[in-house]
Amino acid sequence: MANGSEGGGGPAIENYYLEERVFEPSEEFRAGAVVGDRSLFERAEADWEGFWAEQAAGLDWFEPWETVLEWDLPFARWFSGGKLNVSHNCLDRHVAAGLGERVAFHWVGEPGDTRTVTYRELLAEVERFANVLKGLGVVRGDRVAIYMPMIPELPVAMLACTRIGAAHSVVFGGFSPDALRDRINDAEARVLVTADGGWRRGQAVALKGNADVAVEGTPSIEHVVVARRTGEAGGPTTMVEGRDHWWDELMAGAGPDCPAEAMEAEDLLYLLYTSGTTAKPKGIMHTTGGYLTQVAFTHRTVFDLRADTDVYWCAADIGWVTGHSYIVYGPLANGATSVMYEGTPDFPDKDRWWDIIETYGVTILYCAPTAIRTFMKWGTEFPERHDLSSLRLLGSVGEPINPEAWMWYRAHIGGERCPVVDTWWQTETGAILISPLPGITACKPGSATFALPGISAEVVDDAGEKVEEGGGYLTLTRPWPSMLRGIYGDPERYRETYWSRFEGRYFAGDGAKVDPEGYLWLLGRVDDVMNVSGHRISTTEVESSLVNHASVAEAAVVGARDDTTGQAIVAFVTLRSGEDPSPERGEELRAHVSRHIGAIARPRTVVFTDELPKTRSGKIMRRLLRDVAEGRALGDTTTLADPKVVEEIRRLSTASPTEE
Ligand code: PRX
Repeated sequence: MANGSEGGGGPAIENYYLEERVFEPSEEFRAGAVVGDRSLFERAEADWEGFWAEQAAGLDWFEPWETVLEWDLPFARWFSGGKLNVSHNCLDRHVAAGLGERVAFHWVGEPGDTRTVTYRELLAEVERFANVLKGLGVVRGDRVAIYMPMIPELPVAMLACTRIGAAHSVVFGGFSPDALRDRINDAEARVLVTADGGWRRGQAVALKGNADVAVEGTPSIEHVVVARRTGEAGGPTTMVEGRDHWWDELMAGAGPDCPAEAMEAEDLLYLLYTSGTTAKPKGIMHTTGGYLTQVAFTHRTVFDLRADTDVYWCAADIGWVTGHSYIVYGPLANGATSVMYEGTPDFPDKDRWWDIIETYGVTILYCAPTAIRTFMKWGTEFPERHDLSSLRLLGSVGEPINPEAWMWYRAHIGGERCPVVDTWWQTETGAILISPLPGITACKPGSATFALPGISAEVVDDAGEKVEEGGGYLTLTRPWPSMLRGIYGDPERYRETYWSRFEGRYFAGDGAKVDPEGYLWLLGRVDDVMNVSGHRISTTEVESSLVNHASVAEAAVVGARDDTTGQAIVAFVTLRSGEDPSPERGEELRAHVSRHIGAIARPRTVVFTDELPKTRSGKIMRRLLRDVAEGRALGDTTTLADPKVVEEIRRLSTASPTEE
């Protein structure tokens, strides 16, 4: 289980909250741990549907909804009959309210170039690009694939889709051509929006080159729009006549005005592919009204947002759900000012993040524990030589945060004045569901604390019985507005994956523990999904990539505990007869997976073994392999057919012949 969050309930409770609300442990705290203003929780408990309706009323609706919730387990419809438009809510209404000159994004490119985009400018670009899409034949109900670096054109493309009622499918720029192709085909996207390249650690990564390879196998793609970012640095960009178009040229020819379509609350807003327990990624479906309601609500309350003064920075990539909900839709729906950064924290040097915080006076920082643990490893000298006093709130997302990292984050980045919010959620949940509320919830470092108002989370045992104290599986007992509406094209898989394990409950796939004071401690995945640096990767997906290689007979992949990345990918590989294990072969396999899926899926370690431990029914004993991977200090790259590892596998498999 991950990062020492299990056992003992973490370090002693202190005042981890806003100075003006000094926390003194009280009876109330011991009983329930909500020490500040409880009114949100009380309202939500008294009438949770009414509570969500109250939150939805904060958006602009072209037509009011007729019913708040229609719940036919596992299918939910929120705010049925209501009509609204996401880009209108994120842009037009702020400009109409006189906030057109407010900065939406302070953008920082990796080479150090910058751009400031106000709400008025963002709206203008979105309207124009919406007309570009229309000009390419995109109509309401179509899907548009987006494969871009972290440049302002990325949110522009997303918002333009929402403006005309097309659903987007953003594919993380680190994914391979194969991964892009599969996602485009599953969604049957008509248009792909990409860029010539993106900057990563000083290198121009040729996205258009990848897109070209992908599009060879995507019959549905009619047009490819290419934004200029890296120019010639990434090599020449090939443009196919009639199919490929430069972004700026299309924009120059497009009209400036594009009315926002009145979308149904339940119209598809976007697809986002995420890894499940099979090799095929799932197209998670999010719809319009409920999603926007909940991302706006959570962004406001969890970050205690003061939109007129805050400078908020979510350091994720928009290619993942964190970026969708907390770089694009939540902050823009709330009229917030955000920082958006293209690159990595270590380029050009390890001061980059702290430079950005100092330059823009960032007040809220939201990032993954892997980043925090990396900064811990680099040492305090980097943050210490910067003025970080603008920070007033810190957030954590994507993986369990170990108490040591939590305390280091607060002590060395935010300072004692900063609350830390550890936010639990998933691609499927759309928005944060479990998190402290600043000034309201008393914290324990390493615990995501409690379900937010309106959410009902329970830990259950194998039999589905509620666990009052102790470990079990995290479930949700009622629907929520930003919940996934299904898996694209596969309603059965939706029902089976999330709603069949425990009757009447949503099963998150995470282990969790309830401590004596009722706090929730997230313990990591309990299925065949790994979490590497806060990114979800399926063991099966990596395995099928490995067995695709001509030299591989069989492969078993496990996520092993890693001090920095939370988990690391360890692959146990049996080669075909006649093939010999060697360090070069190990490297080749790692590179193969990287090419096939993307660099994030590259195994940290490849262990060659003559056989894989199996149960009598032939199932690979992963738990045992995980023990082997964690129990031994396997090297960072390739471990040769280490006879000791093989011996250990044999020994363990004979010592514990239990079926998994
Ligand atoms: O295991 C949980 C972990 O990340 C998974 C969801 O991954 P993904 O859909 O990619 O979304 C990541 C960003 C929301 C969960 O099933 N996870 C996410 N947040 C936390 C977490 N584990 C512990 N603590 C968290 N705060």
